Amino acid sequence: MKKLFGILFVAGLVAGTAVAEDDVKARTAPVGSTCMSGDECAAAPAPAAAAGPKSGKDVFGSFCTTCHSAGLMGAPKYGTAADWAPRVAKGKETLYTHALGGFNSMPPKGMCAACTDDEIKGAVDYMIEGSK
Ligand code: HEC
Repeated sequence: MKKLFGILFVAGLVAGTAVAEDDVKARTAPVGSTCMSGDECAAAPAPAAAAGPKSGKDVFGSFCTTCHSAGLMGAPKYGTAADWAPRVAKGKETLYTHALGGFNSMPPKGMCAACTDDEIKGAVDYMIEGSK
């Protein structure tokens, strides 16, 4: 019985720590994110859209994933090394060129017209890295 209490005590401590961490996260959330409509702070101007270039992961998640997660129309699947190895063998520059300018059913810039060339290249790198 003593042992059981010990386990419960430890479990309680672990749960307590998790709660405390959540608490800290909530308190350290960026200003503005906790505003509710109706609050005074909600009237404050929204923070400027995320500054700086989008990460390869973000571009992938917003655009490339549509085709590259399911392998639509023969798109090399993210996470599938067998799909990517022959592509990577062509050289990264070729893949960048095809991602930017299009290649068969691969649309130019993966349909992210607003993406910069570097952002598209970042998404290519992200897919290659995640598909080894
Ligand atoms: C509408 C579907 C679609 C979207 C969206 C899409 N792709 Fe593709 N992608 C394809 C298809 C299909 C292929 C295979 C083309 C082929 O080999 O004939 C491909 C191939 C590629 C290749 C390999 C090219 C080569 O030379 O082998 C790269 C790199 C690539 N896509 C990058 C991207 C990136 C980066 C994005 C997002 C910014 C993206 N794609 C979004 C359909 C898509």
